[in-house]
Amino acid sequence: MSYTEYKLRLTKIADISYTAALLSWDQETYMPEKGAGFRAQQIATLSALAHGQSTSAELGDILNSLNKSGNELSEKEKRNVARSLKDYTKQKKYSTEFVERLSRTASECFQAWQKAKKENNFSLFAPLLETMVDLKKQEAELLGYEAHPYNALLDQYEPGATVAALDILFKDVREQMVDFVKQIAAVPKPDDGFMYRHYPKEKQWNHGLDLLKQMHYDFEAGRQDISIHPFTTSFNALDVRVTTKILEDNLKSMIWSCIHEGGHGLYEQGLPSGEYGLPSGEAISLGIHESQSRLWENNVGRSLPYWKANYKNLQSLYPENLGKVSLEQFYRAMNRVEPSFIRIEADELTYHFHILVRYDVEKKLIGGELKVKELPEYWNACYKEYLGVNVPSDDKGVLQDIHWSHGSFGYFPTYSLGSFYAAQFFHRASLEIKGLENQIEQGNLLPLLEWLREKIHRHGKFYSAEELCTQVTGEKLNFKYFMDYAKNKYSTIYNLKKEAV
Ligand code: CO
Repeated sequence: MSYTEYKLRLTKIADISYTAALLSWDQETYMPEKGAGFRAQQIATLSALAHGQSTSAELGDILNSLNKSGNELSEKEKRNVARSLKDYTKQKKYSTEFVERLSRTASECFQAWQKAKKENNFSLFAPLLETMVDLKKQEAELLGYEAHPYNALLDQYEPGATVAALDILFKDVREQMVDFVKQIAAVPKPDDGFMYRHYPKEKQWNHGLDLLKQMHYDFEAGRQDISIHPFTTSFNALDVRVTTKILEDNLKSMIWSCIHEGGHGLYEQGLPSGEYGLPSGEAISLGIHESQSRLWENNVGRSLPYWKANYKNLQSLYPENLGKVSLEQFYRAMNRVEPSFIRIEADELTYHFHILVRYDVEKKLIGGELKVKELPEYWNACYKEYLGVNVPSDDKGVLQDIHWSHGSFGYFPTYSLGSFYAAQFFHRASLEIKGLENQIEQGNLLPLLEWLREKIHRHGKFYSAEELCTQVTGEKLNFKYFMDYAKNKYSTIYNLKKEAV
């Protein structure tokens, strides 16, 4: 049993999976409406094929024998085998019947959610969500866990994340951010009305391409298209695609989602293409992936230095809308903080309260402390408590996100983890890159990208998230970096008294 054979098998599985991913990309971008039926069938067939190969007895034999005779392998090869064996063992725990039930429930649950959201009627969604929660509880039992069933689900998106650790982290978030956000809420908000003037589609599209070029997103190994929800997908490091969405009455939407997806795209393009199909050629976790998108979106794209370089150009694109708006006004407007009830429209600070609510709800649903029928009331009470807002209706409350209808429990926390990792990485980058702020002010983003390539991207999944963080920054994830960043930035914007940090 050789490593070459293992590599060959993983390459084949990757070929099938990425072909399915390409079909999904097409489905979201160019596929004509009537193609949906056969497309779903094609994707399902390929997914079943990949699943069959990922759980074959032959692959199991190869992995087990390589894992035992590990001495001839390099450190990287050993880690690849160990990670693949962990995945294999996990996959083997699912019966075909369970996978089918999960997939059928997800598709019914998604239909019900769409209808319930449209009609603002939670009771249309509740019975299917109940079935989904039951299945997810079964899945946790099937996978096995220590301490809390939710740990089994978290591990699928953020390997190593646990309720015990997140409870501590999110308690810090709450304790440190609630008062700070209250201080901000007490002072007048910057005017951002000019962001909602008319911004023609074509100009926005071209501007988006320029934003990506400036980030050194490689258009010879990627492209941008339009989709309803912006996303990034990759078929290998040399073909990484991003999508964007353009609203003509909203300048904010395209700019920051474009930079966000660009950040995801740069991570994928920076993975080692020679490690195709192997763990060492893949992203570490959703949290680390999100750290890359948020670092570009927030730490760079919502910073003053970045707009010192780019605001004149933006003004010249839209002189009628922005000609009389100063850089200072624009910067303050993009960083307007305001508690609200919709997660995806939230600012960079109150965003995390939205995650705190979902984390609390998911943990309790999976742990059996909260019932689906109690959800709307509990949700609204949490929003009142965490964000101080009254949720007007369930479509703007508990029904707003798609995740649960897909069965994605344990996903939300990775969004917050991403921001916190981003702050810690960016802090380190500004210590290690000479004159980083100046470079950004000059519009030169290459030193930052090269640093990320070297420190993060090129390693693929060689390290765990915690190992990578320690390797890059000298310590494990520490919320202090995000809080320092937030206090520093927003105290200035809102003229608050700065505390000694
Ligand atoms: Co993202």
